[in-house]
Amino acid sequence: MLSLEWRLTIIGVAVLPVLIIIARRVGKHLRRIAREQMDINAEMNAMVGETLNISGTLLVKLFGRTELETQRFGERAARVRDIGVRRAVLGSQFWAILGLTGVIGSALVYWMGGHLVLAGAFSIGTIVAFSAYLGQLYGPLQYLINIPVEFSTSMVSFERVFEIVDLPVEIAEKPDAYVLTNVRGALTFDHVTFKYDKGDEGLLSAVRRYGRIDNVTTVLSGSSGGAAKPVADDLEAPSPHQARETALEDISFEIHPGQLAALVGPSGAGKTTMTYLIPRLYDPTSGRILIDGHDLRDVQLEALSDNIGMVTQETYLFHDTIRTNLLYARLNATDAELIAAAKAANIHDFIMGMPDGYNTIVGERGYRLSGGEKQRLAIARVILKDPRILVLDEATSHLDSQSEALIQEALERIMANRTSIVIAHRLSTILAADLILVMDRGRIVERGTHAELLAQGGLYAHLYETQFERSLEIERPADPFEE
Ligand SMILES: Nc1ncnc2c1ncn2[C@@H]1O[C@H](COP(=O)(O)OP(=O)(O)OP(=O)(O)O)[C@@H](O)[C@H]1O
Ligand SMILES: [Mg+2]
Repeated sequence: MLSLEWRLTIIGVAVLPVLIIIARRVGKHLRRIAREQMDINAEMNAMVGETLNISGTLLVKLFGRTELETQRFGERAARVRDIGVRRAVLGSQFWAILGLTGVIGSALVYWMGGHLVLAGAFSIGTIVAFSAYLGQLYGPLQYLINIPVEFSTSMVSFERVFEIVDLPVEIAEKPDAYVLTNVRGALTFDHVTFKYDKGDEGLLSAVRRYGRIDNVTTVLSGSSGGAAKPVADDLEAPSPHQARETALEDISFEIHPGQLAALVGPSGAGKTTMTYLIPRLYDPTSGRILIDGHDLRDVQLEALSDNIGMVTQETYLFHDTIRTNLLYARLNATDAELIAAAKAANIHDFIMGMPDGYNTIVGERGYRLSGGEKQRLAIARVILKDPRILVLDEATSHLDSQSEALIQEALERIMANRTSIVIAHRLSTILAADLILVMDRGRIVERGTHAELLAQGGLYAHLYETQFERSLEIERPADPFEE
């Protein structure tokens, strides 16, 4: 082009700086929109996940908030739509501007070239050749200018990925971590203090949030028993519902291999929190937790989770078959082991009574099963895992006496010869415990056996009178398996 006509070349490329400036501006703008679009999308997805699962839907229906939720969803979906349109329009505008500047450049070349031809500077063939070259130059240049724009919007996705990847690993394994083998099951808490992270918005808090939703539904469906009542309200102590800084304070105790420890205490005392520290879902803020004398922080995580089995208050099941859900505890278990575990958990006969037996789909979170059946499945699952240390958050719900007895029996089987820590709501568990730890407001306030604690006449005695004696009435007359 330069060898053909240098003046036309200058005019032809003079539009390029303009293009570059425009591209920069649009790139910045598109990048902001892309970021916003992803955030809004994520918000909508979170909302769908939260309200359209079984528990969420149940909550919405029970409170008659279908319209409100529809409206809330409509608002969010509208924002997703609007920003999508904005992004598309801006993108098209950008391309239109790119095309337009090319056309303007060509027009200028023809205009200036025409004048020069008329003035006799060169022949008309030069302009024709020149404009053909110009067309070949503009096309690739437009793509080239678009690349940084595309690149900067794509970088937003990378940024979001790295925001997650760069989060500090809270529970990290040491490089030379100790592999627990032949665990005896001695568990020690040594002056453990624990505070929840204020800005704790990690995965775990999300997990816990979902847990809370389950609790709400339990209360709603009326299956929550009296144990959830804030029994310490009328005690002298400050209300347990008042938020406090530390969830656990200076907790020390020791459980010998094979012993059963029962945790009791008013709501919010920190019982669940304490059980979360054992499989290292959180690390203590200060103090140590030891298994067979090994600090949990020095132990290999996989070996740790192999040796600890947890049965949570709310049973979580995947939307899959009973078999798959049970095998989750031990992927390579044989059918015989599976059935033995189910039998030990008193759930085998029930499973065989279902049309598809072990291949029955349990439904999302197991909603097709009753509370008692789910609990027994959870017990079967942990029996299959066969951990040395068992952590059990007893369900507060009072089932009918027959299910209650089936569960009781299953629990006795699984607790035998194992170190067990149980957040106890059943009197039978408490009576069987080698050690009772009474917690209140993050501290262990009393410890001992049932008889010792009752004689002290403190918080335990109070809890016993208000909670457990009642469960005694429910448990006693109703053991149909005694005969
Ligand atoms: N993820 C969390 N972040 C911040 N604070 C929390 C978190 N989970 C629990 N807490 C607080 O820690 C305290 C102890 O809670 P925890 O769940 O251990 O009580 P609990 O003894 O199990 O009660 P309940 O008998 O009602 O189940 C409570 O004050 C609670 O509000
Ligand atoms: Mg709890």
